[in-house]
Amino acid sequence: MSERVHIFDTTLRDGEQSPGATMNHNEKVRLARQLERLGVDVIEAGFPAASKGDFEAVQAIARSLEKPIVAGLCRSLPADIERAWEAIKDARRPRIHTFLATSPIHMEFKLGKTPEQVLEMARAAVRTARNFTDDVEFSAEDASRSDREFLARVAEAVIEEGATVVNIPDTVGYAQPQEFGDLIRYLRENVPNADKATFSVHCHNDLGLALANTLAAIDNGARQAEVTLSGIGERAGNCALEQLVMSLNVRRDLHDFETGVDSEQIHPSCRLLSLIIGQGISAYQPIIGRNAFAHESGIHQDGMLKHRQTYEIMTPESIGRAGTDIVLGKHSGRNAIGSKLSELGFSLDEEQKQQVFDAVKTLADKKKRIYDEDMEAIVLEEVYRLKGKYRLRALSVQTGTSGGVPPTAAVVMDVDGEERKLSGFGMGPVDAIYNTICEMVGYRPTQEQFNISAITGGTDAQGEVVVRLAHNGQSAVGRGSDGDIIVACAKAYLNAFNRLGMKEERKWAQL
Ligand code: KIV
Ligand code: ZN
Repeated sequence: MSERVHIFDTTLRDGEQSPGATMNHNEKVRLARQLERLGVDVIEAGFPAASKGDFEAVQAIARSLEKPIVAGLCRSLPADIERAWEAIKDARRPRIHTFLATSPIHMEFKLGKTPEQVLEMARAAVRTARNFTDDVEFSAEDASRSDREFLARVAEAVIEEGATVVNIPDTVGYAQPQEFGDLIRYLRENVPNADKATFSVHCHNDLGLALANTLAAIDNGARQAEVTLSGIGERAGNCALEQLVMSLNVRRDLHDFETGVDSEQIHPSCRLLSLIIGQGISAYQPIIGRNAFAHESGIHQDGMLKHRQTYEIMTPESIGRAGTDIVLGKHSGRNAIGSKLSELGFSLDEEQKQQVFDAVKTLADKKKRIYDEDMEAIVLEEVYRLKGKYRLRALSVQTGTSGGVPPTAAVVMDVDGEERKLSGFGMGPVDAIYNTICEMVGYRPTQEQFNISAITGGTDAQGEVVVRLAHNGQSAVGRGSDGDIIVACAKAYLNAFNRLGMKEERKWAQL
């Protein structure tokens, strides 16, 4: 029988730390449920000591999942460890994940500590964590740039104190596959109590080697891999879950391991993440990109028609990309809408289903066919939309070429539940709306990105707008969709303001 490699998903922690990937409370819980459906072994739900919002999200996730281990990250400080425990203690299977840097550069410049002090702190952190739970993971931050012998001493010490998992991160994506595989083998052979813990790896992608390093580590004895959906994470990101799982599945001949992941949930999971964080999936992204299963050239198409495996090493169905036949429209009933929601991986309660049903009916009055992408946009808009400080109530714009009157917008919106109205001008309709909103909100952030796209084909397609705003050293992405592209612009702008507000709160909580 093949050995098991445990999949530790850190989309909600390392992933959420990456630029533009902030998620609100409901979105985090929703994604955590999808990760459970995907079949990951461990979900790192967040960093509870970072802010009140992070704490509450980790707690809600811990309380709502059945199967996976729920991990909370903490520095090797007693107060952080206690806070992490408070957040995860209601989980069916809680894990404290504590970390401390072990490389010379981090110890000297970041921590201002000697190696002996770091060794003691690591011991003490694991000891403290073990007072709360039997499942304790220790990460030696920047392990790949640490002295091997020192790293081995730290690993031995934390295992002695009761760490059940020792994680070896390539924090800055510096390692090369052969070297990283050797490091894992060295630790497994030179840490006297290595057999009492699982060795884990956590690879960043700064040189594009996160997957190669993770595979090399697994081949050399690591039995837990830390990954994120779509590879999101600090800087260039982490090893992508879908790439690791499918590498193990497709190349069983070389890596004889199994995971608990249901590969058919890969595509729905990555799509959900992309919708939540408002960042599209690049067409060329392995496994999940639009082009990953597209065959354009005549020779390839001919080959595919003769035998699929001529140009496909896995089927789209194996990662949940099969096309579907249910097309929704004006006449679709509750059952059809309900079954489409399940097919897309959404499990909603009755009230949420009703919200979606009403929104589908409204859209179907304006548009003949409701595509999967429309449904996903509706669910996000109606069910998971951030209930922030600002909400659009009504909007009207006047524009065109008739001289004299500049484009004008009249905006009615809620600010903390109170209705406000204002009108203003601009270079064009969107500029007029954004000027008016800034006037009402009271500040003007820098607009760093603005993308408009049609979610589906046809002139009646729903429009999707993504806006990135920056203010006071923070930036946030907002997303809005609507049958009217101008309304989508306003929704995206307010969504970005709401997310900026969330980040500001977080910043203050961290001070
Ligand atoms: O990259 C890293 O070293 C980390 C640790 C906290 C595991 O994210
Ligand atoms: Zn990391």
